[in-house]
Amino acid sequence: MFGMVNRHIIKTIQVTYGERKWREIIANAPEIPHFSQLQQYPDEITYLIIEKAVKVLDIDIDNLQETLGKGWVKETADGQWGIYYELYGDTIFTFLNNLDSLHAALGAQLTDMSPPSFLCKKLNLDTICVRYMSKRRGLTFFVKGMLKGLCEKFNYPGHVIIKQIRSDQIEYDEYLIEKI
Ligand code: HEM
Repeated sequence: MFGMVNRHIIKTIQVTYGERKWREIIANAPEIPHFSQLQQYPDEITYLIIEKAVKVLDIDIDNLQETLGKGWVKETADGQWGIYYELYGDTIFTFLNNLDSLHAALGAQLTDMSPPSFLCKKLNLDTICVRYMSKRRGLTFFVKGMLKGLCEKFNYPGHVIIKQIRSDQIEYDEYLIEKI
């Protein structure tokens, strides 16, 4: 996973749980390197940070992933990537439909990127269905947090539900965003 994602994970842990706890985590995993924003690193390192953090902090992995996903939207929207949120949609629905184009545009700058893919449709006036496909596994709750973050970003009064978790038979996760 790109350095910028790993750095976001580390920063969130440092800000939420304190620098001392982060030092405890890294002491348990000296193989965690210093990350450059625009470089690709093996996914195992990302999973290792999360695994060690959950152990040291004694927290629930799904909750941590959700926090990280929600925070990723805020961090990118408020920072140097904010322009992408203006360019790729003025509602949550159009933005979600354009997410593949957004990652493709990023891929032109970030070589070696392995982006996710999303399919999105309206089931009725109050329900959006989002299908998430990826080469990676285990990011179900990360995406749930991102969808929650997008509801906030686009002022959409939505409640996010996991409808389908990827399995050996079904190669994708599926979510419902229901209007509150
Ligand atoms: C401008 C905002 C965004 C930027 C700069 C960005 C950038 C990135 C980057 C660099 C990666 C790592 C890919 C890799 O290491 O191969 C990534 C992965 C990912 N992004 Fe985005 N992203 C943005 C917005 C979003 C949003 C709003 C979503 C919401 C659902 C999203 C969903 C994901 C997911 C799920 C992954 C994990 C990759 C996978 O599933 O295989 N991204 N993104």
